[in-house]
Amino acid sequence: MIKKLLGALALSLISTFAFAEGGAPLDHAPNRITDLAALQNGAKLFVNYCLNCHSANAMRYNNLTEIGLTEAEIKKNLLFSRDKVGDLMTISMTPAQGKAWFGTTPPDLSLITRAKNTSFGPSGVDYVYSYLLGFYRDTAQKTGWNNTVFPTVAMPNVLWELEGPRTYTDVQVHEVTDDQGKAQWTRTTKTYDHAGFVTVKHETLDNYTGGTSHAGHFQAADEKTFDAFKSDVADLSNFLGWVAEPQQTLRKQIGAVVLLFLFLFLFVAIRMNRAYWKHVR
Ligand code: HEC
Repeated sequence: MIKKLLGALALSLISTFAFAEGGAPLDHAPNRITDLAALQNGAKLFVNYCLNCHSANAMRYNNLTEIGLTEAEIKKNLLFSRDKVGDLMTISMTPAQGKAWFGTTPPDLSLITRAKNTSFGPSGVDYVYSYLLGFYRDTAQKTGWNNTVFPTVAMPNVLWELEGPRTYTDVQVHEVTDDQGKAQWTRTTKTYDHAGFVTVKHETLDNYTGGTSHAGHFQAADEKTFDAFKSDVADLSNFLGWVAEPQQTLRKQIGAVVLLFLFLFLFVAIRMNRAYWKHVR
């Protein structure tokens, strides 16, 4: 029993994955697209943590009444003094400044979840969710942060205070040529502590036939903090999913009604077809 409990505990503290080409595979984000409280929390996080670097130029503040906020609440909690409630969610940083400060311009996030959507694979919401959960400290990077989903990203982990400390371990098996020019399979384990300092270990693998591989795992210091953080990130990602397509819930409902109609009409059509041809056959 205790062993089982400990096992479960370790499981939620540690997350392990194998890299695909490019970056880490994407996690599936919880679907909260119709959960107004979650979307409101997402809006609050977005305005407080993202809207200074990223704009959402396709969204007006007063559209947020559609996720259940009143204009008074929007004014009080989400607006900076210069903005009016009918304004677009713009920022004062120009693309040129962004480029000068970060080396690249932070993209407008209005349509990011649609841009990152794949037809059959993970959704754009999954992308943003995994990306925001993929940051680890790395002193070798300019911002002090690196990311498993977007390696050497120019964005710092702006949510780090909510996340709590985590360590990251990266394991790669690859062929290394030694001094004599002989190829040797080697396992390189890099462990980044919560301050971003890395310890690197090389092990030579004898009689290894598995081919190259790349995997990673995170370990959170405190499970409660990290679970709360994950939930916040889910809210924020779903909010960005809503921003990209505020009408999506309505669209899906209409789609369901249309399909239901077509299905019922099929029976009507079959019966009518039979009735019309009854005397001919
Ligand atoms: C300090 C400025 C800054 C803040 C604050 C910031 N970002 Fe970024 N963000 C950037 C920069 C710079 C890039 C471009 C990174 C690159 O291309 O290397 C970026 C890129 C992104 C991308 C695109 C990644 C991709 O694959 O193209 C997403 C999504 C994103 N940010 C989401 C967010 C969210 C959500 C927040 C709020 C929690 C946020 N950002 C806060 C600077 C910032």
